Amino acid sequence: MQGPKAYIEQNKDRFLNELMDLLKIPSISADSAFSHDVLHMAKTVEEALIAAGCTHTEICETEGYPIVYGERTIDPSLPTVLVYGHYDVQPPDPLNLWTSPPFEPVVKKTNLHPNGAIYARGASDDKGQMYMHIKALEYMVQNDKLPCNVKFMIEGEEEVGSNSLVTFVKENQKRLANDIILISDTGMIAKDVPSITTGLRGLSYVEVEVTGPNRDLHSGLYGGAVANPINILAKMIASLHDENNHITIPGFYEKVQELSREEREAMAKAPFDLKAYQDEIGIESVYGEKGYTTNERNSIRPTLDVNGIWGGYTGEGAKTVIPSKAYAKISMRLVPNQDWHEITELFSSHFKSIAPKGVTVKVTPHHGGQGYVTPIDFVGYRAAEKAYQKTFGTTPIPQRGGGSIPIVALFEQELQSKTILMGFGLDSDAIHSPNEHFGVENYLKGIETIPYFYEYFTEMSR
Ligand code: BES
Ligand code: MN
Ligand code: MN
Repeated sequence: MQGPKAYIEQNKDRFLNELMDLLKIPSISADSAFSHDVLHMAKTVEEALIAAGCTHTEICETEGYPIVYGERTIDPSLPTVLVYGHYDVQPPDPLNLWTSPPFEPVVKKTNLHPNGAIYARGASDDKGQMYMHIKALEYMVQNDKLPCNVKFMIEGEEEVGSNSLVTFVKENQKRLANDIILISDTGMIAKDVPSITTGLRGLSYVEVEVTGPNRDLHSGLYGGAVANPINILAKMIASLHDENNHITIPGFYEKVQELSREEREAMAKAPFDLKAYQDEIGIESVYGEKGYTTNERNSIRPTLDVNGIWGGYTGEGAKTVIPSKAYAKISMRLVPNQDWHEITELFSSHFKSIAPKGVTVKVTPHHGGQGYVTPIDFVGYRAAEKAYQKTFGTTPIPQRGGGSIPIVALFEQELQSKTILMGFGLDSDAIHSPNEHFGVENYLKGIETIPYFYEYFTEMSR
């Protein structure tokens, strides 16, 4: 019997190679051209679960991509940890900005990661972080250290809204019964500053279409006399924020939970280097809602952002045209208490109401989800805290996250259990961007920390 550190030391090359093999599979859920690869990925995850020690596994078919389920029950009277993760990844575009191909993983040394980082789409979000849990299980099984029951639920549609998972969770409440849900799909403050994500933002994602004339028009013949949908769309979008960068949709902030002064003061104590933050993404100044700090703006405040905008002529050279249509994809990040269906409705009626005569507006909701906050005064949090203390030698900082994992709020609603977000990624991992990577040390540290969570959670649950 040995501790996780020694086991990892002996097996780290294999752990790395196995992850690299998973990263070679382009499991892009958004693009149906890759559906075969997504399915292949599901099968591969199932095999990995079996190899690590799951005694029962299943590929659960859904209307979309399958959910990979696995479990190892040692004693029904002991607690059960349910691990959630996703095996799908974001599209790698724009491809030309990658320094090595997105599905040909390589380890490169960087200033931040002198011992190397794995470059590939999905390295951090979420294959690398999901696989840490499978390797942690392997360690526990091989060394007789699994102290409780474990279930795995790894889905293939997280990056496109987890539609099939909603039904799956509702229909499988018994099978998924657990005492705590454990997820590594977030980040930490810095490599040597561990943190536990205590909140996720909700999301409402919509697409808008503005239509003017029934065909593209000559911009000289008609220019000046007809509403140009792109001009109008730009103006409408610009009006969604006021001069203080508050969102102007009536009722948008109504349910937003304001933090107390104490809570904001506690947040402000987390280490944050504004200069480093700006330098890392190449900006000279931050920008955002008046009256809030950068860390507040990107976690406890709601937002509205255009993710893409198109229409008219965008090919080579010039073409003089007033387009018939203009489009945009818009996301709103929400905070706990804001209801995403309600916000989608508020957006939709407001956006239609501000359209001038001469154009028509269509709003199509894509997907969404509710925000989530975890308490820090229950055994799940305390067990995670102690696990980080053990492997990092310092107490992790609780931190509200800005991203969304919409299914987490549903887990609480349908399974009546809390989620602990033990993320080992970094903001600089470039998730969803070109050159996504995951520090080798982050990966191994995750594998080392997870078994302690199991140990302490089981101990503290007694
Ligand atoms: N893992 C991310 C979410 C995340 C990353 C949360 C870092 C906190 C810190 C997840 O895969 C993701 O990208 N979620 C989407 C939402 C989904 C509905 C497409 C997001 O946040 O945009
Ligand atoms: Mn993710
Ligand atoms: Mn993601």
